[in-house]
Amino acid sequence: MARKQIKLKRTLNLFDAVSIGLGAIIGAGIYVVVGIAAGAAGPGVMLSVILAGIIALFTALSFAALSSTITKGGGAYEYVYELISPSLAFFTGWFWVFGQIVAGAAVSLGFATYMAVLIPLPVKFVAAGGCLLFMFLNLIGIKQSSLVNDALVASKILVLCIFVAVGASYIKFSNFTPLMPNGFSGVVSGAALIFFAFLGYGRITTISEEVKNPERVMPLSILLALGISSILYLLVSFTAVGIVGSNALSSSGSPLAVAIGATGNGLAVLVVSIGGILATASVLLTTVLGVSRVSFSMARNKQIPEFINAIHPKFMTPYVSILLAGFLMAALAFFGNLKQVVSLASFAVISTHVLVNYAALKVRDRCSFKIPFCPIPPLLGMVSCAALTLFLLPDVWMMASLVLLAGVVFYSIENRVKF
Ligand code: ALA
Repeated sequence: MARKQIKLKRTLNLFDAVSIGLGAIIGAGIYVVVGIAAGAAGPGVMLSVILAGIIALFTALSFAALSSTITKGGGAYEYVYELISPSLAFFTGWFWVFGQIVAGAAVSLGFATYMAVLIPLPVKFVAAGGCLLFMFLNLIGIKQSSLVNDALVASKILVLCIFVAVGASYIKFSNFTPLMPNGFSGVVSGAALIFFAFLGYGRITTISEEVKNPERVMPLSILLALGISSILYLLVSFTAVGIVGSNALSSSGSPLAVAIGATGNGLAVLVVSIGGILATASVLLTTVLGVSRVSFSMARNKQIPEFINAIHPKFMTPYVSILLAGFLMAALAFFGNLKQVVSLASFAVISTHVLVNYAALKVRDRCSFKIPFCPIPPLLGMVSCAALTLFLLPDVWMMASLVLLAGVVFYSIENRVKF
């Protein structure tokens, strides 16, 4: 099988980078997980959104600082490799890739529940089929050209704005009481779940190698993408709770369709459902792409076998990593439930964020983007990310330990054979 060295060119500007960030961030989190988070937090789910956004901001500042000084692709993995240690970097990459694959499964379930609003088909089959379809599109090298991504991002944002505009006049303030039926710990559990909606700001850094003037563009694009999505999430969660209340949201797999359905506007239900399908589809498509970028960096550092990045001679895509990611996602989507996969994905990615914040502390004097009040935000990022994991489903700890164990076995075998 032909092995080609992938050469990445710096072609993307600030607009493209922000758009790629928003493409990766806005998806199943706000369209689907907001319902599960509302189940935990009650009407105070907006407070969960604010809390999750603040915790995301701490780590986003660390990503911004790191991306202004290390401009290689590979994101969190590359930062830990260069600044902490190669072995911890391996586990960062291992958990990150695993987290993306599980997130892909969660997003595919969101995709399937919004499809089911329009066409009644079994959700599990559509979710697994969606994973395989997007795997196939990645495999044959569908070009996620900036233009296609920009169009998808514009539609996702437009649909969320339509949701807020149509729903605003149906808000009933009685739906906000009691605000925190499960107390503040319910709000924090909601934040741990809705944190999923913010995942993706770190993924922008995996394309650092393809961005022009990355020292300036990367930090700006991370913070802009996070800022824009936070404002949208706040408006949407407020409107959704205001229209139907948190109980109705929590009992549906397509909560925004349920909320807008209560307005009696059939056209708006159609638009929001199509928005849900488009948003989850674009996140799903780029998730598979992100996995192949990080495994590319890991193989470049000789931490995983090179055949994982073998390039298909005809399609010129890293077909082995794409096939592995696609089939694993499909299996997880088929056998897992939404709350489990969301918790597991968030757990895996959040645990890598602890190390990213630590890496930012180590490099802070060298960065062209200076974190305001450093070292406070990275320290708060480490503590809050670690604390958030305690509020996720307890069984994710067991699953994450198994993933860690598998990583240890893989790493030791790799070390013995190759080093
Ligand atoms: N933030 C991404 C989503 O909500 C993972 O789908």
